[in-house]
Amino acid sequence: MNGQPEPGTGSTEFRTPNDKCRVADPETAVHAEATMAEQTTDSVNAVELVGVSRLYQHSWPALTDVNLTIEKGDFIFILGATGAGKTTLLRLLYRQDLADSGRIKVLGYDLKRMPLSDVPHLRKRIGIIFQDFRLLAERTVYENLEFVLRVIGTDPKEIPGRVQDTLNRLGLVHKKDSYPHQLSGGEQQKTSIARALVKEPEILLADEPTGNIDPKAAADILNILKDINYQGATVLMATHDADLAERTRRRRVTLDAGRIVRDET
Ligand SMILES: Nc1ncnc2c1ncn2[C@@H]1O[C@H](COP(=O)(O)OP(=O)(O)O)[C@@H](O)[C@H]1O
Ligand SMILES: [Mg+2]
Repeated sequence: MNGQPEPGTGSTEFRTPNDKCRVADPETAVHAEATMAEQTTDSVNAVELVGVSRLYQHSWPALTDVNLTIEKGDFIFILGATGAGKTTLLRLLYRQDLADSGRIKVLGYDLKRMPLSDVPHLRKRIGIIFQDFRLLAERTVYENLEFVLRVIGTDPKEIPGRVQDTLNRLGLVHKKDSYPHQLSGGEQQKTSIARALVKEPEILLADEPTGNIDPKAAADILNILKDINYQGATVLMATHDADLAERTRRRRVTLDAGRIVRDET
């Protein structure tokens, strides 16, 4: 993990060299132990949602009683029409938003109970491709990627190589000194994908990553996501394009008005 601290390292102060807890409150100690054990186990699922609901004010429920388990290494499509709840679901997974009820675990972290100080550790391990890109307008393509690595504390010596490799992979090297407004929609899309991938995430959340581009470019992007998945990352891709998902032959979970109505493999 590129020298990044493993999850649960925030709790190491609870441990003596003999692996004994020395927290005054035994309940806290037990919880700390359990959390650590869970997070360091490889068998932990990538994502678990149990009875999750999200209700925005002045709106019908965005998500209702969602139950979903995604194993590490899976590639899964989240399907549904506009307004079905796809973006809401992804926002919950990187803890941009909290559920109103139910339980969500991502890489073993209980998103409601985890200390806020652990949120950066969680986000370091998740790459996000936003539906609206969210590139930094004042920075070049290269600098957009570099910025992400600095924020997550990557060794500065590693940064140029990682940025370069990622730009290569996305075919963006010739655009590295361009600003977002100088890019086509497809190039902005690819830059937003590159920015998610440069983190070498364990989970990749892609919100309509083929939404704004032609079919050929969409196929290229899907191949990149499949490749990332092949290398071990868990990929969740939200899309309204049911045909594309069906052709790709991966697990498809369909949302309709905030409820899971189908789960097909
Ligand atoms: N911040 C918000 N405030 C109020 N309602 C919202 C908000 N975000 C989304 N919604 C509503 O929640 C529902 C699901 O939206 P969303 O998750 O964006 O769907 P999708 O990504 O599938 O198009 C929609 O009815 C939408 O209008
Ligand atoms: Mg959306």
